[in-house]
Amino acid sequence: MKNSLFRKGVLAFSALTLTFSASSALAQCDDGEIVAKFSHVTGGTTHPKVVAANNFAARVNEEMNGIMCVEVFPNSTLFGDSKELEALLLGDVQFLAPSLSKFGSYTRKYGVFDLPFIFEDIDAAIRFTQSDTGRALLNDMSDLGFVGLGYWMSGMKYFSANKPLIVPSDANGLKFRVQASDVAKAMIAAMGASPQPMAFAEVYGALQTGVVDGQENTWSNIYTKKFFEVQDSVTETNHQLLAYLFMTSTDFLDSLEPAVRDQLLIIADEVTQQANLDVKAAEAKNRQNILDSGGTINELSAEQRAEWVEAMRPVWDQFEGDIGVEIIESAASS
Ligand code: LMR
Repeated sequence: MKNSLFRKGVLAFSALTLTFSASSALAQCDDGEIVAKFSHVTGGTTHPKVVAANNFAARVNEEMNGIMCVEVFPNSTLFGDSKELEALLLGDVQFLAPSLSKFGSYTRKYGVFDLPFIFEDIDAAIRFTQSDTGRALLNDMSDLGFVGLGYWMSGMKYFSANKPLIVPSDANGLKFRVQASDVAKAMIAAMGASPQPMAFAEVYGALQTGVVDGQENTWSNIYTKKFFEVQDSVTETNHQLLAYLFMTSTDFLDSLEPAVRDQLLIIADEVTQQANLDVKAAEAKNRQNILDSGGTINELSAEQRAEWVEAMRPVWDQFEGDIGVEIIESAASS
C-alpha cells in the first residue's frame, strides 16, 4: 500500500439542521399487517441510528398503513451484537443496522471501513459508499441471505480512557474495548495496548468497573451511553469511521408482493439519504452535549495527531490481502 494513500483525517462539522423523529419506538400494529421488527443496540434520542430507525418506522407505518408495520427495539432489548445477524437469517427480526465492523465472520472486505485514517471525514466515507466499489460492497453478502439497503454513517471515532491520551504512547499497557473486528484489534495492538472485543451493551459497565481502561467511539455513542462519565477524557483523534449497514434478509424481501417491496425500498432509500444529511449535525450536537454535561475533550495539535497516524500506519499492510488493494485504494482516494 502506498504511503501517500494513508491520509490524515480532519473534523468537518456541518451546521445542518437536525430532523429528529418523535415517533415512539413500538408502533401499534393492526391485524392483517405484515409486522417487521427492527432491532439495534444504540439508545438515547439524539443518536443518528435511533433517529434514522425511528424515521424509517414512522414512514412505513404512515405510508404503508394497513400493509406493513415496523416495530423498533433499541438498546439491545431484542438482540445484542452477538445474536442479531443470526436472528435476521432465522427470520426472528427483519431489519438491522449493525456497525460495518461487526461482519468479520461473513466478509473480510468490510475491514476497509475500519482502516485507521482511511477517510478524511464523513463526507469522504459517503463518497466511497456511493462509488462503484462502495455500491458493490453493499451486497457483498447476498449469497448468505443478507440484503444491504443502504449505508448509514454514524461518525468518526475518538479514544477515551481513564487517563488523558495525548500521544499514542499514553495508551501503552492499557486495555481498550473494541468491536468484534480484527482491524480494530490490530490497531489497538499497534498502539502498544490490549484490545478486548466486547458487545456494545457491556461497555459502560466494563469502563465503570475497570474491566477495560478505555474505548473508542463516536460523540453520539459516548454521549448517549454516558461513557464520558466513567472516563477521564475523550481525545479528538478522529481516527476511524463508524458506519452501519442498514439491512434486511433475502427471505423477508422475497416474501413481499413486488409493489410492497418497491414501496419499502423507496422509503429505505429516502431514509438513508436523510440520515446521511443529518449525521454531522447530530455528531456536533452530541459533542457539545458531552461538554455541557461536564465531560472533558482533549484536542490535539497537528504534531500530536501525526503521531497517532504514524503509530497506526502498519495496520493497512496487515489487511491488504483480506480486503484487496483495489478496494483500499478506492476508499483512500474518495
Ligand atoms: C459499538 O459497538 O461501539 C457500535 O457499533 C455501536 C453502534 O451500533 O453504534
